[in-house]
Amino acid sequence: MCGIFGYIGHKTNAPTIVLEGLKRLEYRGYDSWGVAVVPEGDAENILVKKKAGKIGAATVTSMPKGTLAFGHTRWATHGGVTDVNAHPHLDCTKTIAVIHNGIVENYEALKEMLTKEGHHFVSQTDTEIIAHLVEENLKAMKPAIRDAQPAFSKAVQKAFNALDGLNAIILINTTSHEMVAARNGSPLVVGFGDGENFLASDPAALLPHTKQVHYLEDDEMVIVRPDAIHIFNARTGERVRPRKQLLTWTEKDAEKGQYPYFMLKEIYEQPGLMSEIASESTEQAKELAKQFATAYRVYVVGAGTSGHAARAASYLFSDISAHLINWGIASEFDHRLNVIPEKSLVVALSQSGETMDLMEVVKKAKAKGIGVVSIVNVVGSSLWRMADFRMPIGAGPEKGVASTKAFTSKIAHLILIAYAMKGNISDGQKLLIRAAKSAKEAVSESNVKRIKALAAKMKSVEHMFVVGKGISYPAAQECALKIKEISYIHAEGVAAGELKHGPLALVTKGTPCIVIAPNDETYRDVLGSAMEMKARGGHIIGFSYKNDEVFDDYIPVADAGEATIIPNVIVAQLLAYYLTLERGFDPDMPRNLAKSVTVK
Ligand code: M6R
Repeated sequence: MCGIFGYIGHKTNAPTIVLEGLKRLEYRGYDSWGVAVVPEGDAENILVKKKAGKIGAATVTSMPKGTLAFGHTRWATHGGVTDVNAHPHLDCTKTIAVIHNGIVENYEALKEMLTKEGHHFVSQTDTEIIAHLVEENLKAMKPAIRDAQPAFSKAVQKAFNALDGLNAIILINTTSHEMVAARNGSPLVVGFGDGENFLASDPAALLPHTKQVHYLEDDEMVIVRPDAIHIFNARTGERVRPRKQLLTWTEKDAEKGQYPYFMLKEIYEQPGLMSEIASESTEQAKELAKQFATAYRVYVVGAGTSGHAARAASYLFSDISAHLINWGIASEFDHRLNVIPEKSLVVALSQSGETMDLMEVVKKAKAKGIGVVSIVNVVGSSLWRMADFRMPIGAGPEKGVASTKAFTSKIAHLILIAYAMKGNISDGQKLLIRAAKSAKEAVSESNVKRIKALAAKMKSVEHMFVVGKGISYPAAQECALKIKEISYIHAEGVAAGELKHGPLALVTKGTPCIVIAPNDETYRDVLGSAMEMKARGGHIIGFSYKNDEVFDDYIPVADAGEATIIPNVIVAQLLAYYLTLERGFDPDMPRNLAKSVTVK
């Protein structure tokens, strides 16, 4: 959720390098930011610039020069959104600074203990106690030890081991020229440079500097100096050999290019991605199909948009390969883990690979000896590393908080796996080519014109329904999620058959009702629901392969057989995007939401 970027090296504009790094992490969502530098020369204190709000046009050119700096974009948990609560935080002597992702669950007890020892706190955060704890640990050392090189890292190690909860921390100080970091739960990546090294919460932030990285595992600690990186286990002190990995994304992949927003760029990438997956992912799909086929039961799990993909999976597998697949929402899956039979398989779907709710499911499944498959977009992420079998989604960096291309790419992979289980993967490939064509029509100029006009017409509505049946039910839920999370219009995805069991009571004159009516066995029923809503005054908007007189507005979606969920959701993404612009909001950074939800 929060963003972390740290630099140590030979360049003296470390604060600017860090601010640029933070800007590359802005997409994760944040409410305040800050940078700290150890000034060059004889300065006694660490200097900090921090502010509530977005970075915008702010600079750090007024900060002193230095070759060691780090910074943070904060997503508030403990303490309101204020300048003072923004990270970095300092100890009493202002010679130790900390940035932190996560929640220190025992911070009240630690704060009480530190207050008794005379420490003075200036913020309402749990984070600040970490700087004071390190200060206290250093104070408790004998002078000879305190002055020796490893004293600072030892003090950080002791502090880290005293924290309860899932945390990633980085600390710097004015005496030892190093960054000391540790992780448990929240992601942290070390970047290897030439005479300079980096730390970040997200590998995408490192792309302009290096592609060689080491993902810290839980309980790993690292000391980062300009010319050396030492990794060890924070609990046992044992040395760990760096597991260097090469990032495959390019800097260009992570930029907006000609598009005004990442979300629009990512929407337009989808037709190409569908064709790529059709031609490049068959071997992996066949491999996973074997795992699915031999498992006693398969449980596909995800959160948010990935949860909708999991629900869609249950329809795809029953329709395509006649397999009954279970699905679940990560945050609700806990109680089911106790009764999952042996030899089952948990399939974790995730764009970021860092979603805490899903990581909890995977950890518990593994502890029970259940096999885990991860289908994730960020190769090297926590869920990627935790899995027994893995498949990359291959959608490239997704920076818009609203997930778009990762959803349709997950669906494309699931379709291939289902066809591989049926023993006919080439039909799956052909279907994806059809979906790519239909996706291209969905983003065509003429279609976008229609969607823009619809958005302009709907911009002032407060509520709407999105109705679908069969696989168009998770499509309706995904459509509603896109609309609510970025345009802030309340939208509810409803199964067509459920309307008369309650939601119909809310359909009155003018209520917008989007109806997803593809060319499949659900068509007649869904049109029936549309008529019921129209009879109560509902304004019916059809997403369908053909127009019908029940539709007051109509957006064509070319038929792509079992893969029609792909163009249907793309049309929904575009509608959400243009509604957001019409209402004057930023589609890339919706309020209160973060790209990667690394807390429970
Ligand atoms: O990275 P993940 O796919 O695991 O993320 C899961 C959800 O947090 C994510 O899909 C969220 O719902 C998005 N904001 C939806 O657009």
